[in-house]
Amino acid sequence: MKAMILTAPGDVENFQLAEIDTPKPQKNEVLVKVKAISVNPVDTKTRAGEAFYGQLKDDGPVIVGWDISGEVAEVGEGVTEFKPGDGVFGMVNFPGSGKAYAEYVAAPVAHLAHKPANISHEEAAAATLAALTAWQVLVHEAKIQSGQRVLIHAAAGGVGHFAVQIAKHFGAYVIGTASVENHDFLRSLDVDETIDYKRQKVEEVVKNVDIVLDSLGVENTLKSLKTLRSGGKIVSILGGANDTVQEEASKHHIEAKNYLVHSSAEDMTQLADLLQRGIIRAHVAFTFPFEDMAKAHQQVESHKTRGKVTVLVQ
Ligand SMILES: NC(=O)c1ccc[n+]([C@@H]2O[C@H](COP(=O)([O-])OP(=O)(O)OC[C@H]3O[C@@H](n4cnc5c(N)ncnc54)[C@H](OP(=O)(O)O)[C@@H]3O)[C@@H](O)[C@H]2O)c1
Repeated sequence: MKAMILTAPGDVENFQLAEIDTPKPQKNEVLVKVKAISVNPVDTKTRAGEAFYGQLKDDGPVIVGWDISGEVAEVGEGVTEFKPGDGVFGMVNFPGSGKAYAEYVAAPVAHLAHKPANISHEEAAAATLAALTAWQVLVHEAKIQSGQRVLIHAAAGGVGHFAVQIAKHFGAYVIGTASVENHDFLRSLDVDETIDYKRQKVEEVVKNVDIVLDSLGVENTLKSLKTLRSGGKIVSILGGANDTVQEEASKHHIEAKNYLVHSSAEDMTQLADLLQRGIIRAHVAFTFPFEDMAKAHQQVESHKTRGKVTVLVQ
């Protein structure tokens, strides 16, 4: 099968389209014929030798990627949830080695859901790592409730645009930060308030928030504490809740946590239901052919993508 392998950590020229053995599905795994992949900032960081490169480098040819949508080609021993021909999508083996940049991926059934028939493979692939992160942070970690005030940073991005839609689904009042060029997009997602982070100081204009989702890091996590009410919670997905931030947070009776997404069929199934009912949708800004993985990475590295970047495999 074709796979996009990484010959060495570094820049995008280290990607090489190669012919390698097709994996065999193990017990409780299915072999997925991949149709579309989505690319995340963690993919670009891993390619550069950071993030999960250390885990990938000792696991055969280095293949980056975790987000797939495709069709079941073969089932391993013990699999009853899926059969050949089923459309499936999910974030495979995260954190760990997903090996998603390939024509075929062996994926645990515990990481997959049935793909809704009314959305494309690009949309389904886009609604995996980023959507799971938004879901797990808001639902499991922050325990979002109807009527709460929720501040989503980088609301037009991969994680952010799903977080806005999920928070609205739970009946929250949602405030999103983005550059002004993305405010119409945020309004199309039903956001209640937009903050132009280039012209407004979020810590001065937003108050009395119950939940903050931070995806920008320590400096942003620290200043966002000022937007929270006593008893509120901030969840950073970029390690923003360091010791200093946690100490400052506790002085104001605020909980500050870091969060790392993990693969989950149960959460994917919840997302599949929302996607199927049109309650949430993936905004796919760019789709590249498989050979142009380098361009997909460059787009993600611009840190300016509205929604998601996907790659078509076959
Ligand atoms: N811990 C975890 O489990 C986890 C999971 C997923 C992602 N992450 C991390 O979270 C970060 C975001 O991921 P992502 O996939 O959402 O990224 P992304 O889609 O690449 O984010 C792009 C968006 O960021 C916005 N943006 C850039 N600078 C901003 C700023 N200063 N204030 C507000 N918005 C800003 C841009 O909007 P404008 O063009 O309007 O500026 C753009 O829409 C990455 O570092 C990623 O590695 C962590």
